Amino acid sequence: MLTQVSQKSSGGLNWNKNPFSTRLFDAISILFPSGERFFIHVAQKVLETHDMDSSLSCDIQSFIKEENAHQRAHTLYNEKTALSFPKLTSCEQKLIADLDYFQQKMPLDAQICLVAAFEYMTAILSHLAIGNPQKPGSGWLSTENNAQTTLWRWHCGEEIAHWRLFMRVLENKKIKYSTRIFYFLMASAYLCLDISRHTALMSIHDFKKSHTRPLACLGGFIRFFAKSLPGILWALSRWSLYILPISRVQKLL
Ligand SMILES: [Fe+2]
Ligand SMILES: [Fe+2]
Repeated sequence: MLTQVSQKSSGGLNWNKNPFSTRLFDAISILFPSGERFFIHVAQKVLETHDMDSSLSCDIQSFIKEENAHQRAHTLYNEKTALSFPKLTSCEQKLIADLDYFQQKMPLDAQICLVAAFEYMTAILSHLAIGNPQKPGSGWLSTENNAQTTLWRWHCGEEIAHWRLFMRVLENKKIKYSTRIFYFLMASAYLCLDISRHTALMSIHDFKKSHTRPLACLGGFIRFFAKSLPGILWALSRWSLYILPISRVQKLL
């Protein structure tokens, strides 16, 4: 798949045909290389420290392979984005420092809850990005066929397929309900703040460097929200239903 992505030509600075949503996806991509490194670390720790049946162990190994491939693809993607947004490296370094702290200081159960929460929210975002497969253009991704849209469609498809794995790990480890919800709220705040901060920093940089006019970005923002409102309401309902028991959460997406 990585070969297929690299064979496509880049869609340029406005690859999603909307200056706001292009930078929103670029901002989300900043989270992936370090975030997925954290997911892989937690998955490996679960494999090493916990008794489980061979089916769960096999699925964790497949998860690690998939996240490794996503991590490599987004590292290349971010290297290209850094050409138009040099502060990207310092954003990544801050994330690496935060996640290293979680890795070193948090108990494994807390780290598992964080991964389960991030995986659930990534799956919600993936549904929004792809939209209804029967209706091309109904999601956040444009119908353009370039390196960036190809990478996102592939990654979102795999996230939708594998997010339930960490629900099974939560069940297997018998993690307390209050712990799962506490770390879900923490992960939600972390994700919202970082995506908003990165999108704002990139947009301000684009205005300063005249990559985009503020009015064009505002127009993109209005078009994006007008089109996405039903999807955003759906996402908020799914987000809030994480309070349900795990067996019901697994059927939500
Ligand atoms: Fe991933
Ligand atoms: Fe994932």
